[in-house]
Amino acid sequence: MIGTGYVGLVTGTCFAESGNQVTCLDIDEEKVAGLNDGVIPIYEPGLTELVKRNHAAGRLKFTTHPDGAIPDAKCVFIGVGTPQGDDGRANLSALFGCVETIASRIKEDAIVVIKSTVPVGTNRKVAAKLKELTGRDVDVASNPEFLKEGAAVDDFTKPDRVVVGTVRDEVTEVLHELYRPFLRTERPFLSMGWESAEMTKYVANCLLATKISFINEMANLCERVGADVNSVRRGIGHDQRIGFSFLFPGVGYGGSCFPKDVRALMAVAEDTGMTSRILAAVDEVNDAQKTVLFEKVKAQLGEKLSGKTIGVWGLAFKPRTDDIREAPALVLIDSLLKAGATVQVHDPVAEANVKAIYGDKLIYGEHHYDAARDADLLCICTEWNEFRNPDFDYLKHAMAAPVILDGRNLFDPAEMAERGFTYEGIGLSANG
Ligand SMILES: NC(=O)c1ccc[n+]([C@@H]2O[C@H](COP(=O)([O-])OP(=O)(O)OC[C@H]3O[C@@H](n4cnc5c(N)ncnc54)[C@H](O)[C@@H]3O)[C@@H](O)[C@H]2O)c1
Repeated sequence: MIGTGYVGLVTGTCFAESGNQVTCLDIDEEKVAGLNDGVIPIYEPGLTELVKRNHAAGRLKFTTHPDGAIPDAKCVFIGVGTPQGDDGRANLSALFGCVETIASRIKEDAIVVIKSTVPVGTNRKVAAKLKELTGRDVDVASNPEFLKEGAAVDDFTKPDRVVVGTVRDEVTEVLHELYRPFLRTERPFLSMGWESAEMTKYVANCLLATKISFINEMANLCERVGADVNSVRRGIGHDQRIGFSFLFPGVGYGGSCFPKDVRALMAVAEDTGMTSRILAAVDEVNDAQKTVLFEKVKAQLGEKLSGKTIGVWGLAFKPRTDDIREAPALVLIDSLLKAGATVQVHDPVAEANVKAIYGDKLIYGEHHYDAARDADLLCICTEWNEFRNPDFDYLKHAMAAPVILDGRNLFDPAEMAERGFTYEGIGLSANG
């Protein structure tokens, strides 16, 4: 398994857990040394125990040396990052770097499996590159990953589906065998061509991002017309063609996948001479949504925030992860700092990652109440469970003023008014 990030570490560990011999290769020496000492570099529920158990059993190894990982492997998975490049396209330099590393070491009948999210056409290019470097046809398979950070182990071990893109049935069969332990409850194993598998991953993420931007725009409209987006959600969700999932308004999507995947698919379309107007709108609406809380702060406290203290609950882009890549909280924090506010933050697990960027520009609360103490206003950016039932009396007295701007709609506006708070969510209305 090349790359031990959210995808590589979870995938490698879960394959080891089902009895395979797995060696994880990464260029990050500190990360690998830590993993060999039982230090898990990311927060992911259930992962620590699994890594330690399989490492202790000798089924899961970590190395920075390609020679210790590739020559014996029957399958070489690539799970390195494919971040957004300057032009919006996926940057594939790490991936093609891996292809070079693999080519000189891979054994004759091994399969290269691309798990990273890659633009359409990449598997074909990797196969061509391997042929150029090795002089033979190396089997290449696309195996996009659909796990969600915060539930990654669960998603990997109980997938909704496994998708593989191959050009040879024998390759499909090897991957089916590898995934069989996770498919026992009739979960589908879907085999298709390279391009379709690559496209499936992008279309899935882009549709989810579209749902989020759609409901965010509708929530903003609800606010203007005095409707309550939660009531509207209930009103539409019972229609089975619509459903309830992924229709929670908020402060925009973030993370390492949706933003870059939406832009990468736009670039794929552009390369074919087509403009994806829907994806352009999804991206634009999301960027704007990340500024909504700050606009609400200014509406409460005015343009200049010097002398004001703002609390922020939640920094990770979503709960149960420490990932802050493209997190809406950071956009808010940047605006608050620029306007001169003193910013006090708390996140159950992402604080260290934020500290690495902001250092002493922020005040870090050990407890979420600390981030609210003496604050003129509290913003909620991530829906961690522990924020859902605060001691409201305590909170009211701890804050300088009882004002909450809730980017995740955790509370009921009427109840918050009764509790004596000035409270605003996203698209909520006291009219119900
Ligand atoms: N994070 C997710 O929830 C998620 C879900 C599905 C798919 N994906 C996709 O999976 C891929 C990986 O994402 P991630 O979030 O795990 O990335 P990540 O940034 O967390 O981890 C990538 C790892 O690869 C290592 N690496 C980079 N170049 C390397 C090289 N040449 N050799 C060995 N190791 C190398 C890095 O040191 C790092 O540890 C991306 O394409 C992403 O879009 C991510």
